[in-house]
This record gives sequence, structure tokens and C-alpha cells, in this order.
Amino acid sequence: MTIKSVTDVVIQEAAALLRSGECVAIPTETVYGLAADACNGEAVAKIYDIKGRPSFNPLISHFDSLSMLQDYADLNDTALALAAAFWPGPMTLIVKRSENCKISEIVTAELDTIAVRVPSHKTAQKIIRAANTPLAAPSANASGEVSPTAATHVQDSLGSKVKLIVADGSAKIGLESTVIDVTGAEAIILRPGSITAEDCADVLGYSVTIDLGDTDTPKSPGQLLKHYAPSTPVRLKSYDLKEGESLLAFGSTKFMPVSKLPDTHILNLSETGDLYEAASNLFGYLRKLDKLNATAIAVMDIPNQGVGIAINDRLKRAAEK
Ligand code: TXA
Ligand code: MG
Repeated sequence: MTIKSVTDVVIQEAAALLRSGECVAIPTETVYGLAADACNGEAVAKIYDIKGRPSFNPLISHFDSLSMLQDYADLNDTALALAAAFWPGPMTLIVKRSENCKISEIVTAELDTIAVRVPSHKTAQKIIRAANTPLAAPSANASGEVSPTAATHVQDSLGSKVKLIVADGSAKIGLESTVIDVTGAEAIILRPGSITAEDCADVLGYSVTIDLGDTDTPKSPGQLLKHYAPSTPVRLKSYDLKEGESLLAFGSTKFMPVSKLPDTHILNLSETGDLYEAASNLFGYLRKLDKLNATAIAVMDIPNQGVGIAINDRLKRAAEK
């Protein structure tokens, strides 16, 4: 059994494993991450190996504070403004590497930019501090699978490939961090998340573009990949139901023919239509419905605004064949 509930002793054990070049799964407020010492290339290579992640797709480096980060990256005014507003928290900034940055080139896939985040999760912060090094950490699932929001999801996906999974409840936000490129004249969102374009616009004073990378040469290598895919087909914007399907509902189901399905086959992301609640339930519910052997997961329409943009981005990738 590799899952251990968080205690001070377990935090020290995690830090020792990380310092010795091993990978450890850790909780964050967004999703569970598979962490390794970002300055140790061999340790980072294990992350790619365990996940089956293509080496062209760079990783996010996690810091316990803005002051720890200053040694590794150069932050311009846009970065500092967003950092002041949203860190610690569910935001990743794409910034320039500093000249003497010690982060391994495997983390950044040899780009001259680097993805950085200061998570707000107390256990994540304590583990980074105890390891005394930035931690590279993608979501702790096999590449292409639904991201893990609980320690048991990590175990289901990666099992014995990970020496230690530090368990600390379910990830509150449930969607990966908002990724924002701040290297250009204006900030651009490359991966929508719970910090929305409107939230960024409020801080920066101009309207912030979301670039989902629907081209052959996206700005973020991760945009090339199919993601978040359950093995059951996903049918979006469903207004009807077929025998044998399951339903991922949102808001009122008054106009859905739900009597066609057993109760076990229906999960509601948020009965009150709260998009943040829906985000936190999304990956866990997709995993549950995926276990039913239904012919498809029918998903009700979700408003494409605010956090709904991030939810729809993940669902669209989940539905891709
Ligand atoms: O919430 C999260 O962000 C979680 C937790 C564990 O922190 N981590 C996570 O990491 O989702 P990952 O590796 O699954 O996603 C990192 C994304 C990828 O889409 C990658 O392509 C992009 O960030 N990325 C990393 N470095 C980049 C860079 N230098 N330029 C553009 N995109 C980059
Ligand atoms: Mg991921």
C-alpha cells in the first residue's frame, strides 16, 4: 500500500524520497500531482516514464513562495500583478527562465520559458519547503487519462509505479490550474481553469484572450494532446437519453427523460447550477460513470462562461475520438 494519510512524519518521508531523486504523489488544491525534484534531471525523467508522457510536453515547477521562485525565473510587471492577485493559488505563469536557473531542461522540454506555480495547498507547501527544492509536478495520472482529484484515483491510475502517495482529502478545485503566458505584450490564457479570463482582466485592466491552441503549432505543447479521456464514449450537449447510457447532469434535469436510466447511472455536477461546484466534481464523476460499462456518458449542456469555459474545454477533449 503506497497511500499514506498526511502527518508531519509522512511529509518528512516524502521530502526525503524527493531529495533522493524519487517521485512522490502529492495533493494540491487543483488536482493531485506526481512530483520530483525539478533540478534533478534523472528524477524528472522518472515522471515522464511513470506517466508515459511525451517528452516534448513540459512540466510545471512548483514553489512554496514567490521568494523561492525569484532565483529561477524573471518576473515582469504582468507576472507580478497576477502573482500578487492569485498566488498562492490555482494559477500557472509561463515566464522567462532566469540566467542561472537550475531547473532541469527536461522539465522545460528545452524551451527558454518555464511554467511556474505557487500552490495554496498547505501540505503541498510543506512538502516543497521540507524538500527544499522546486518540484516539477504534472497531474498524477497516466498520460491521456482523467486527472486525479483523490489519492485513490492516483492509485487506480499509477498503482505500484509510485513509492508514496500522500493523501489529504479531495482536491477542492478539481480542475488543473489556469495556465497564462505572460512573456508577450499582453497576457494570454493557454489553459482555462478556475481563475477566469474575467478575473485576469480585473487585475490587468484589459480583456484577456483565451488561446486554446486549435492550430498545428499551439503555444503550449500540451494543447496538442487528447486529454482527460474516460474509456466510455462521451456525448456532449445531450438533450435526450438512449437506453444503456449514463448521464452527467448539470442543474435541473426536469426536461431530461431520466426515468429511462437507473439512479446509479445519473450524477449531477451541481443541482443548483454552480459552476465551481461542477468543476470540483467533474473528474471524480467522470471516473465513476466510466466504471458502469454504459454505452456512452451523455453530458448536459454547460454554460460556456466563467469557469464553464474550463469545464467545457476538458469535456471537449474527453469527447474526442
Ligand atoms: O493544476 C495543475 O496545474 C496541476 C497540479 C499538479 O499543479 N499540474 C498540471 O500539470 O496540470 P500538467 O503537466 O498536466 O500541465 C502542464 C501544462 C501542459 O499543458 C504544458 O504543455 C504546459 O503546462 N506548459 C508547461 N511549460 C510550458 C511552457 N514553457 N510553455 C507553454 N506551455 C507550457
Ligand atoms: Mg495533466
